[in-house]
Amino acid sequence: MFNKLIILGFVALTFGCLAFAYEPKPLQDFCVADSNSLVHVNGQICKDPTQVQADDFFFSGLHLRGNTSNPVGSKVTQVFATQLPGLNTLGISMVRIDYAPWGINPPHTHPRATEILTVIEGTLEVGFVTSNPNNHFISKVLQKGDVFAFPVGLVHFQRNIGKGYAVAIAGLSSQNPGTITIANAVFGADPSISGDVLAKAFQVDKSVVEQLQLKF
Ligand SMILES: *[C@@H]1O[C@H](CO)[C@@H](O)[C@H](O)[C@H]1NC(C)=O
Repeated sequence: MFNKLIILGFVALTFGCLAFAYEPKPLQDFCVADSNSLVHVNGQICKDPTQVQADDFFFSGLHLRGNTSNPVGSKVTQVFATQLPGLNTLGISMVRIDYAPWGINPPHTHPRATEILTVIEGTLEVGFVTSNPNNHFISKVLQKGDVFAFPVGLVHFQRNIGKGYAVAIAGLSSQNPGTITIANAVFGADPSISGDVLAKAFQVDKSVVEQLQLKF
């Protein structure tokens, strides 16, 4: 009986650890990414701590407006571990998002991060959709100073419904959140997903799928 409890405890501990298997709690003050290393680990290898400088924890540029002259009318400026090496292993990052009038940050997911966003300027309609089978759409109009959270992995978007430009700042619970933009992933896959598959999946004619594939 006692042996069984020990085994159960061991199994629970093992799985408990697995649950935190990505971006684990750091075991040192920091692990500034050494982008020159050829060693690949979960994240990036640590730079020699004696060589670490203030600039490893610094990024400048979020005061600059992103170029929104593109078909969706938005631009995301990322500050991930790639841009700020000191974020390596720390499980956090941020972005600035610029929106042209009526611009959208199109439906997308972050496979590794929950996002918390605040509006700095303008008015945004934001929303996310819950998992199958409910696919409940949860949305809200945000004014300057409002804050909204997008749970990890869920499809979400923002749209500028104001008359002028809009700006948001968001924090993400990963040093490398990953972004999967739905339209690009589905219709812009390289090489492309078979039109038959997409026609059936979206319940439309194959010519509609081909038209969409041409756009990405
Ligand atoms: C913004 O992007 C567009 C499209 O790529 C480009 O033509 C334009 O020169 C860019 N504007 C600036 C200020 O960089």
